[in-house]
Amino acid sequence: MDQIELFDTKPLQKKQHIVNVASVPQRSPFRYAGGKTWLIPRIRQWLLKHGGLDKELIEPFTGGGIVSLTAAFESLVGQVTMVEKDEGVAAVWRIILEGDAEWLADAIRNFHLTPENARRAIEASNQSLRSLAFATIVKNRVNRGGILADGASFIKQGENGKGITSRWYPETLQKRILAIAQIRHKIKFIEGDGFEICEQNTHRRDTIYFIDPPYINAGRRLYRYSIINHKGLFELANKLEGDFLMSYDNTQEAQDLAEHHGFSTRSISMKNTHHAEKTELLIGRDLSWLLE
Ligand SMILES: C[S@@+](CC[C@H](N)C(=O)[O-])C[C@H]1O[C@@H](n2cnc3c(N)ncnc32)[C@H](O)[C@@H]1O
Repeated sequence: MDQIELFDTKPLQKKQHIVNVASVPQRSPFRYAGGKTWLIPRIRQWLLKHGGLDKELIEPFTGGGIVSLTAAFESLVGQVTMVEKDEGVAAVWRIILEGDAEWLADAIRNFHLTPENARRAIEASNQSLRSLAFATIVKNRVNRGGILADGASFIKQGENGKGITSRWYPETLQKRILAIAQIRHKIKFIEGDGFEICEQNTHRRDTIYFIDPPYINAGRRLYRYSIINHKGLFELANKLEGDFLMSYDNTQEAQDLAEHHGFSTRSISMKNTHHAEKTELLIGRDLSWLLE
């Protein structure tokens, strides 16, 4: 069983937390580059402190959406709004949340995955919202690292030499998709620009924001839209009347931007049996809940 070891590297009193990944249900239909499943125990702490049924969670850079899904499934907030700009990712969320989830779940169950069929499905992506959603799921499962940016290549060997089928779990995907559809009344999806949606809500006090933008220094292109105005995002966060939690790559630039606005930062390390150590920077107005 995987064990994720989370420990803080910055606080005065170094604390160690061992978190069993099994306590974080995998709810997303995506395997997402930069996904935050591993951070869920911490994000839950934040939601318990700043969420509540009278609050709406806005996630302006939704990607695989594990934070929004956790908040909705576990009723940690009353309402969730997910925003995503990538047309393919957005198509999947729209199909699931706007009434066509069963179609997608069935299409996945009935698909015979071979390199040729995968290529065909991907080439047909421009025919309809359905075909774009389906092609996105296929790409996400057959591309190395689940990367959806243009130019990403198919998995070669995969687990146990199973090649492109090594991440194809049709029954699991079907179950996750149908489960999300069951709680769709709690989730609103907006295809668009996360900046704009935050901007429209700055004065609301009944909203909280989980902000997980593309990295400042991504070594490779992970997303179709991977460049954003980071300075502008910090300025926007500063204007939000509701609480926010940002997650960043732990770079000097992110630390400087946070310091400039008087935000608190904490670096969090993640280790598990498969990955090398990774450090992420959490940023907020007051992160004292993290020490509790
Ligand atoms: C780090 S990923 C989010 C990962 C997510 N937290 C998860 O756990 O799966 C950042 C996402 O922001 C999206 N994105 C980039 N620019 C955007 C914008 N201006 N508005 C909305 N989404 C954007 C990317 O397509 C990508 O899916």
